[in-house]
Amino acid sequence: MRLCILRLPAQHGARGYRAALCTQLTQPLLVQDLPAPRLQPRQVRVRVHYSGLNFADILACQGLYQEKHAPPFTPGMEFSGTVMETGENVSAVKEGHRVIGVTGISAMAEECVVDEKALWQIPDNVSSEDAAVLPVAYGTAWLALHHRAHLQPRETVLVTAGAGATGLAIIDLAVSVFQAKVIAAAGSDPKCQLVLANGASHAVNYSQNSLREQVTALTGGRGVDVAIEAVGGDIFKAVLQSLAWEGRIVVMGFAGGKIPSIPANLLLLKNVSAMGVYWSRYQQEDFPLFSSAMSSLLQYGREGKIRPYIGAVFKLEEVNEAFNHVLQRKSTGKVIISMK
Ligand SMILES: NC(=O)c1ccc[n+]([C@@H]2O[C@H](COP(=O)([O-])OP(=O)(O)OC[C@H]3O[C@@H](n4cnc5c(N)ncnc54)[C@H](OP(=O)(O)O)[C@@H]3O)[C@@H](O)[C@H]2O)c1
Repeated sequence: MRLCILRLPAQHGARGYRAALCTQLTQPLLVQDLPAPRLQPRQVRVRVHYSGLNFADILACQGLYQEKHAPPFTPGMEFSGTVMETGENVSAVKEGHRVIGVTGISAMAEECVVDEKALWQIPDNVSSEDAAVLPVAYGTAWLALHHRAHLQPRETVLVTAGAGATGLAIIDLAVSVFQAKVIAAAGSDPKCQLVLANGASHAVNYSQNSLREQVTALTGGRGVDVAIEAVGGDIFKAVLQSLAWEGRIVVMGFAGGKIPSIPANLLLLKNVSAMGVYWSRYQQEDFPLFSSAMSSLLQYGREGKIRPYIGAVFKLEEVNEAFNHVLQRKSTGKVIISMK
């Protein structure tokens, strides 16, 4: 997908706000003025400070994401910001509160309107930049490690795309909160150095050497207890084969573009469990769990236990450069869009 910056003229009359807009799938996003909608009784209008860029946003703008959106739409599923206005029945937040929020789309904009249930207050000692990293990257990491894999202290975790947004969140939570050890796999030596600087015990460059052989050597032939897999294709199979007896593998994504199949004999031989994690589905299917993940993450932030890693900040007008930065595999950690 070739991307460039376009800007449409502001509409006359109504109060508006700037937003990134996907008007045609696979085409560059536009930055356009949109009219501010009226609030429903339980809705909140938030002045967005930062919106997290996720791989899913790119897939959605290509029409390749599992949740389809018809253009025109504003991408962006998470943000940090300040409450501007509340609907008449809102009680959870007040004007001026700093919040993080989740929304299927529409967060890559100066303003976002969401239900009060989709907002959580940011503790005073957590910056708006760091808070913007928590919902998707840390939320997925928490659900994968804690809720799905039931990670235990002193267990060993293998994570692929380890220098990515979710990869670094997995390393941070696994080490700092769940007291586990992490082997992080990534696609270049600088990315390997980054994961080591951010808490991984070992790094494996899977673009150069056999992932399975390296993990076997690092674990003395035992394998890892838990694997969180984000790349797919042949990497998935190598990770599956790197599990220890009664190991657990969590399918998180397919950044490499190929959805793998699971040879069932590999599950049987070592009594292995394979499972998936899909962060946003928990918001609909198990909101109390989803919300407790968010509250736990904000609490870790308040206690200084976690250190979100932001690799790049782009302005709203640079949203297409931000998409390209991730697409071209140049990004490390979280990429966020600043509305300032
Ligand atoms: N299931 C869920 O709820 C959930 C939530 C969040 C993310 N995810 C998924 O998890 C994966 C990682 O997400 P993220 O937000 O951490 O992404 P990210 O920060 O953009 O990292 C993606 C990484 O994937 C690796 N990669 C391997 N092959 C690639 C390719 N062909 N093109 C681009 N990247 C490639 C790259 O790392 P290397 O160069 O080191 O290989 C890249 O840095 C994505 O597939 C995403 O959709 C799923």
